[in-house]
Amino acid sequence: MLIEKSNLTRVLTYGTFDLFHYGHLQILKRAAYLGDELIVGVSTDQFNTIKGKECYYNFKHRAEIVNAIQWVDTVIPEQSWDQKEKDIQDFNVDILVMGDDWKGHFDDLNDYCKIIYLPRTEGISTHSIKQDLSQL
Ligand code: CTP
Repeated sequence: MLIEKSNLTRVLTYGTFDLFHYGHLQILKRAAYLGDELIVGVSTDQFNTIKGKECYYNFKHRAEIVNAIQWVDTVIPEQSWDQKEKDIQDFNVDILVMGDDWKGHFDDLNDYCKIIYLPRTEGISTHSIKQDLSQL
């Protein structure tokens, strides 16, 4: 899917978004407020395997949950580490938003769009939720 150039500011971000939680909500809200349209790349199950992540919810369900968030306009599959450059160009993206745990990692994409690293919400992650629940 290609998106035409327009005066709208398009924001793109990526993530696994398993066991959707408050930190996920905050980054999507803050990313959306940086522009007019928010595109979210949700990691596929195959890509999570490559990343060494095992999800509770499958891709279809994670993508549907993210798509239902009021600030999200479009969900695309994230299938590899190196698709960002193509996505930025295909979707005419103005701003790439990543969590600050990735600070500096994607600076080479500055040639294509602005990169903004947003601070993570403290004290919550999918991993910590899984750990906490396993101790109940
Ligand atoms: N994120 C955030 N604050 C948190 C957790 C996640 O801002 N407390 C952001 C990440 O920086 C990323 C997006 O949410 O941009 C999706 O992150 P993801 O890796 O799916 O969530 P985590 O909860 O970090 O998952 P895990 O514990 O499995 O690493």
